Amino acid sequence: MNTAWLRWHVLEDPEAVAHAVARRILRAAERAQEDRGRFRIVLAGGTTPRRTYQILARAQSDWSRWAVYFGDERCLPREHPERNSRMAAEAWLDHVPIPATHIHPIPAELGPLEAAHRYAAVVAQAVPFDLVLLGVGEDGHTASLFPGQEHDPEEWVHAVFDAPKPPPERVTLSVRALSAAHEAHALVTGPSKCGAVHRWRTGEDLPIARVRSHTGLDAWLDRAADACGYTAHPSTESPGSERS
Ligand code: 6PG
Repeated sequence: MNTAWLRWHVLEDPEAVAHAVARRILRAAERAQEDRGRFRIVLAGGTTPRRTYQILARAQSDWSRWAVYFGDERCLPREHPERNSRMAAEAWLDHVPIPATHIHPIPAELGPLEAAHRYAAVVAQAVPFDLVLLGVGEDGHTASLFPGQEHDPEEWVHAVFDAPKPPPERVTLSVRALSAAHEAHALVTGPSKCGAVHRWRTGEDLPIARVRSHTGLDAWLDRAADACGYTAHPSTESPGSERS
């Protein structure tokens, strides 16, 4: 599915994807801070964005004008090692001087309903975001929006009780919230994702396919995630080149 608002970037490997996305984030931050005096970013969970966060931990930026939100969270104790907020803190947020009051973890330790109710108020105050980061699961889920699980599209935040990816109880921003942004970037790497990418590219109505920011969506793949659906041809592009 090649539409003007969905841009595919295929890079050599996860390291190249991490650096390219980190560059985009830093550039977006500079622009947003010039235009609006602040930069509101929504972070992706899972493991793929960790390297991007580690690169940002070493970057220069006016961190005092960043505000950080989360696309989803697992209903686990706040300091649980499997929390998305914990991964972002260890890889990046604990290493830069973003004011603590500018970092907005989802209070998922309160359970899906209470956390979704509270975070909906936070999101309603924060939108439009400047940039949203998204991961993609092997089934085409993004954040904690899973195939076959329908929610009230008007909600900013959904409570999730039966997620197929453990833990079953989660809190997730809605398609509406994830799309209420100037730009959105999906990071998809590794051979396990190439089936989801192929289904996405061929127009299947996957949760990731429903997110469309004000400027569309940039999908950042490595070659392994882009390898399904057609026979791979030896790369003739220079390493790290972007095929959009
Ligand atoms: C989570 C994430 C989830 C993740 C994808 C991809 O809580 O796990 O929010 O949506 O982004 O499942 O996960 P990986 O990056 O670990 O492959």
